[in-house]
Amino acid sequence: MNNIYKYDKIIESILRKIPEIIAKYGDISIETKSNERDLVTTVDKGVEEYISSELLKHFPGSEILGEETYEEGRSYDKSKLFVIDPIDGTTNFVKQRDDFCTILSYFEDGKPQLAYVYEVNRDLLYSIIRGEGIFINGKKIEKPEDKTLKEALITMDLRRMIDKKDIFEKSVRDSFGTRGVGSAGLDSIKVAIGKTGAYMNPKAGPWDFSPCFLMAEELGLHFSDLEGKEMTLDGYSSFIISTKSVYRDIFEDE
Ligand code: IPD
Ligand code: CA
Ligand code: CA
Repeated sequence: MNNIYKYDKIIESILRKIPEIIAKYGDISIETKSNERDLVTTVDKGVEEYISSELLKHFPGSEILGEETYEEGRSYDKSKLFVIDPIDGTTNFVKQRDDFCTILSYFEDGKPQLAYVYEVNRDLLYSIIRGEGIFINGKKIEKPEDKTLKEALITMDLRRMIDKKDIFEKSVRDSFGTRGVGSAGLDSIKVAIGKTGAYMNPKAGPWDFSPCFLMAEELGLHFSDLEGKEMTLDGYSSFIISTKSVYRDIFEDE
């Protein structure tokens, strides 16, 4: 990719305006989607609309896969593809107005180039740039250490992971401890910056795990579904992003 820094600058300027966009909403209306715990608000839809229109203005002809406009079964063109989760952690947004983020990733010919997790309330932008590594608000940080399960804190949505009985029991019992923000983006980024050793999700959309492709490549992390299969952007999937040792300790140790 030739223009990676130009793309990075433009995307950053789009993301940094999100607090302003959110602040403009007065009464937020909340609806449910697939079940009573699956929430969506006018802010989720409005932020996606804002990001999509800005991206298309700056990068005409690119394809957008956004959570709120996703068409299941449609094949998205991956030659110049942006994947967006406008508000990740909508439950946190509704119940706490905290611990939510925006996720945005860019793929060229199916290859991950840029990935962002923007923690809106704290104005913290985590960016991963192909060939360059990971940055927090523009400052490069070290790759995460390859912690073992015994050493690592791990995160997951406990209520949903409980059905994956074997994985759940092994990882909860043998890890140093469990945590969980309740935002796939923020929970994944904690692995990327070395605060935790794994994040697991039993069923997520491409917008939830889109940054993990580049995180794994750039930072030497493990990324697969919970059966160990390779991830794609072609629909819903379970996933784990973790250090290589944590993956081995959960899935490969007898
Ligand atoms: C959800 C959150 C949650 C995770 C779910 C996601 P949303 O995203 O990231 O932590 O457990 O799998 O769907 O709906 O708030 O964008
Ligand atoms: Ca999400
Ligand atoms: Ca969302």
